[in-house]
Amino acid sequence: MAKIKFPFTLGVASGEPAPDGVIIWTRLAPDPLNGGGMPASAFDVRWEVAEDDRFAKLTASGTTRAQPSGAHSVHVKVTGLRPASVYFYRFRADGHTSRVGRTKTAPAPASTAPLKIAVASCQRYEHGHFTAYKHLVADDPDVVLHLGDYIYEYGKPAVAEPGRYVRPLKDSTAACTTLNAYRERYALYRLDPDLQAAHAAAPWITIPDDHEVVNNYGGRTGDPKRRKAAYQANAEHLPYRVKPAGDAMQYYRRRTFGAVLDLLVADARQYRVAGDILGPAQTTWLLDRLKTSTARWTVLAQALFFAPRNPPSADAWDAYPQSRRKVLDAAPENFVVLSGDVHNAWAARLDRGVEFVVTSISSAPPAVRDDALERNPHLAFFDGRRGYLVAHASMEEFTVDYRAVPYVDRPGAPVSTAASFRAVGNKLERIDL
Ligand SMILES: [Fe+2]
Repeated sequence: MAKIKFPFTLGVASGEPAPDGVIIWTRLAPDPLNGGGMPASAFDVRWEVAEDDRFAKLTASGTTRAQPSGAHSVHVKVTGLRPASVYFYRFRADGHTSRVGRTKTAPAPASTAPLKIAVASCQRYEHGHFTAYKHLVADDPDVVLHLGDYIYEYGKPAVAEPGRYVRPLKDSTAACTTLNAYRERYALYRLDPDLQAAHAAAPWITIPDDHEVVNNYGGRTGDPKRRKAAYQANAEHLPYRVKPAGDAMQYYRRRTFGAVLDLLVADARQYRVAGDILGPAQTTWLLDRLKTSTARWTVLAQALFFAPRNPPSADAWDAYPQSRRKVLDAAPENFVVLSGDVHNAWAARLDRGVEFVVTSISSAPPAVRDDALERNPHLAFFDGRRGYLVAHASMEEFTVDYRAVPYVDRPGAPVSTAASFRAVGNKLERIDL
């Protein structure tokens, strides 16, 4: 007889695609919004990987232990796979079988095949439906890049803003400060069918921003116990294997996609010190890789608006002009910055390269001045709707489609392309639709 109820309520996920493997993820949580509902003991989880979704012939399989100390999450590093190939995976525990996930390995190092990257950020659950993910899945990306604000830590406000508070939190919900509270917040988000389907459709690469911990946090400010709990829950619920390093969690890393694209994922929150948004060790790491990258496109993926803005922002690279200068001076010619955080879509010309700013999946946008583009001639585009980006990188060109949904206060929004741009040096060419 089964000892536990169906434990795969939060679905499956994969991430960190390499030419020979991926991380596959699940979590045993029969009662996800009440502490998980698992007994306080380790539990065996079987995993299976196959080239077909009926698992007629297994490519790889094994058994791992889900530990109570990790909220019974499992992160399996699958190796021995072929490059640029689709695989299916699933998990079994105590007689139960998970849904089937689909993933794709990265191209071989010498590959010149084009790559399609979907980019998302800022998905405040209370602010709307995650319909954009349904369209993102239909766009069939090779990899999904999430630039932070995967969860929001806020409690239920005493007075909710009308029109913006469409999926209320439970009445008793306080702001997350404890490990259990952060875990339950991830569980709430991962019960969303569109988000769960997006994780099951493609491998993800993610980097936290501020709301995975607390609004506008940076550096070593605030309660270290809260920070530790927040990052532990984040690491438990996403398909990567990050480890505490000193008093931080190291998220900054490089992922390479053949000869086409070098993805440098940077953490603009944890290592801030006066005048330095990345901190000395991460800066050395980043500048070294910018200077030595040989890929056709070098992409810096991080949460915060990189280009200057008038008026400047206090919680973006505008507050760290020396850090920005160092990055631009080290950047190669074909340089692209991907960023999020601001809940609106923008495009910017940089001194070197260009920046594409993704809008929010659901988080409500701030008011934007009518003359924002006139005051900032290097900003080429603005769109105030929710959505995501699809970037197409090849040896010939780097183009971006700004995908927009007209509403998130109810399900079922259609999607359209607000604009498309081609990066040409540090210019942006608008592509006629
Ligand atoms: Fe946000």
